[in-house]
Amino acid sequence: MSMDELKRRAAACALERVSDGMTLGLGSGSTAKHFVELLGERVSAGLKVIGVPTSEVTRADAERCGIPLTTLDDIDRLDLTIDGADEVDPALDLIKGGGGALLREKIVAAASDRMIVIADDSKWVETLGRFPLPVEVIPFGFAATRRALAEAFEECRLSGPIAVRKGGDGHAFVTDGGHWIVDAHLGRIADAPRLSGLLNAIPGVVEHGLFTGLASTVVLAGLQGIRVVERP
Ligand code: A5P
Repeated sequence: MSMDELKRRAAACALERVSDGMTLGLGSGSTAKHFVELLGERVSAGLKVIGVPTSEVTRADAERCGIPLTTLDDIDRLDLTIDGADEVDPALDLIKGGGGALLREKIVAAASDRMIVIADDSKWVETLGRFPLPVEVIPFGFAATRRALAEAFEECRLSGPIAVRKGGDGHAFVTDGGHWIVDAHLGRIADAPRLSGLLNAIPGVVEHGLFTGLASTVVLAGLQGIRVVERP
């Protein structure tokens, strides 16, 4: 079975937890795209839901699939967000942002009563950090932000290359919010909540890809089947 089929299986499993009348956060990335497509099939068959997309790409996919959309300005809370992840640890803390949508993803997840993470089981790690940590930054004063990032990493006894993500055209990748992404190759993040707090305190940092305390359930699809891990 291909990785893509595993992602679709995880998405299908999460879809079983969606019921009529729900307000949904729609994640970004290749796994979330499967979820949007499968949800679209259910909507065509009569399911009534309304979604808030976490990126312009997901907005376009959801519109193409006929899923009614709204914004967080028009509703107070979401029942459930379904999104992918780049890494998941046993505390259900995540690294996200490999696709560059982490800011809207975190806003939407934080506005949701529950978050289900869908992934193939290669995303499960004992300790976060093998995947480079994406940090969304303001281009203005970037050198100062970069120094502050290095200091925050040092305080957590972390080090490694910090690289501005490049887009296909060779220039800096620009997020939906007009910011840059820095990928920090840290290796092993022993205390994700502490690092999260330090990064949040840096003025030039808009958001970062550590999602701590947000996921309530993780659906992992592997060759042996589906594993569902719930937050205790
Ligand atoms: C998008 O910014 C990311 O947070 C994605 O959710 C994450 O990178 C997982 O993407 P895949 O499902 O494509 O692996």
